[in-house]
Formats: sequence, C-alpha cells, structure tokens
Amino acid sequence: MAEKMKIKEHVESDEIISVSHLKIAFGSNRVLTDFNLGLRKGENVVVLGKSGCGKSVLIKCMVRLLAYDSGSLKVFGKEVQGLSQKELDSMRLRMGFLFQSSALYDSMTVRENLEFPLRRHHISSNKNEVNERVKETLENVGLYHAIDLMPSELSGGMRKRIGLARSLILKPEIMLYDEPTTGLDPITAREISNLMLRLQRTYNTSSIIISHDMHCARLTADRLAVINDGICYAEGTFNTLQASNDPFVKAFFN
Ligand SMILES: Nc1ncnc2c1ncn2[C@@H]1O[C@H](COP(=O)(O)OP(=O)(O)OP(=O)(O)O)[C@@H](O)[C@H]1O
Ligand SMILES: [Mg+2]
Repeated sequence: MAEKMKIKEHVESDEIISVSHLKIAFGSNRVLTDFNLGLRKGENVVVLGKSGCGKSVLIKCMVRLLAYDSGSLKVFGKEVQGLSQKELDSMRLRMGFLFQSSALYDSMTVRENLEFPLRRHHISSNKNEVNERVKETLENVGLYHAIDLMPSELSGGMRKRIGLARSLILKPEIMLYDEPTTGLDPITAREISNLMLRLQRTYNTSSIIISHDMHCARLTADRLAVINDGICYAEGTFNTLQASNDPFVKAFFN
C-alpha cells in the first residue's frame, strides 16, 4: 500500500505547477472565476488571452505577489497561499520572473545588476565564484561584452537579455515570462524567443510564457492555454489550436 501511494505521489509531482478552480476578483471585477492549468516539468506553456483577462494576475498569484480568493495553486507540490514566509522565500528562489519592463537597477552596471540577486540570497560571497557565475550567465545570453555598461546604455533587446540573465543567474527551475517580446522589433523578438528556447534546454527550466506574439508561441510552446471569461477556455498544441474552428481561438491566429 505504501509503495502504491509513493508511485501516485510521483506521478502527481510531475506537475511542477498545478492550478485548479482558481478564483480571484478585485471588488466586482471577477478576473479568474474557475481557472485550471498544469505545468509539467520541462514544459513550456504559452498563455494567450485578451488584454485585461488576467494573464499577469495569474502569474503574480504563482509567486504570491497577489492573493487568490479560493481554489488551489500549487507550486512544487505545495499550496502557495499556505506557505510560511521562509518557505515562500525558498520557493521564490527556485523561480525566475521576467517582468515586461525588465526592471533593471538603473544606477548599477550590468555586472552589479547580476551580482545583486546572488548577494541578496546569500548564494555566494566568494569573489571568484561570483565573477565566474556572472560571466557564464552573460555568455549564455550573448552579452558578456556589455558587462561594464549601465542600463541606460543598453537597447531594449539588450535590456530584455540582461533581465533574463538576472533571473537565470539563480538557476531557477521555473521561469515566468510576462510578454517577453512585446515592444521589440520582429527580428529581436525572434532572437529573444530562440534564446528562451535555448536557455530552457541549457537550464532545464519549465516555463509559463504570456505572449501575444504568435511567432514566439509557435517557437517556444509545447502547449498553449487560452484564458477567456475567467476560465481556461481552450488548451492544446500550437497546431491543434491553429486548426480550431472556435472563433475566439481563431482570432489569435489571424
Ligand atoms: N492589484 C490589482 N488591483 C486591482 N485590480 C487589478 C490588480 N491587478 C490587476 N487588476 C485587474 O485585473 C484584471 C486583469 O489584469 P491583468 O494585468 O492580469 O491583465 P492581462 O491579461 O495581463 O492584460 P494585458 O494583456 O493588457 O497585460 C484587469 O481588469 C485589472 O484592472
Ligand atoms: Mg499583463
């Protein structure tokens, strides 16, 4: 019996994020009403939906920047809203979050921006080790040459890469991307999508990617989920959803 239970647990733990019957409202604004989604280990799920449907709210709930009203949201098998502050800190350490704005510290050089999370989380105080990790991460996003620049000297695409590097330096198991290619020209957007894919393989991360960019979705998604009216309205591979007859789903592929 004990053996059987262990096996079942193992199967369930294949889902690194499990969202079920999630509900969140702001006053009378009912954003998510009964939302369900799972993210398996190593998988990339792209989330689509109209502006204001709750995509950012969803991923903010995952790192508990926002609180949900009811339902369940488990990350690494644990209910996010049941975590103690200490557990929450260690969960966040295993997750990277790429904000739309990149949110770099403008008064710090690229090197200092990358060192900051290592120091804040007391990952390493050994100078050589820190240098090595900064170098390796910058090389992985193709920007080692920018190490001594200030954020104001970077282009939009470079800022995205440095923002990505700053999350990756902590070697997260899960990456949450909020519109990673929005505001970039199509070529740079494509480069960022390719980079996300390559980094997923290098770091073996699982990702939730919010994106309106269908090139990005086609390239990066193992699966897509469409939010509409507070629920997961449709779910499937890029090809399945592209072939859908549903007018709402079809609209994203036009
Ligand atoms: N902290 C908050 N307090 C009150 N309302 C909020 C808060 N955050 C989001 N909302 C509301 O929740 C709804 C969903 O917002 P959200 O930012 O998730 O949209 P989105 O799907 O990410 O849209 P976009 O594609 O424009 O980024 C919106 O109506 C927004 O006004
Ligand atoms: Mg948003």
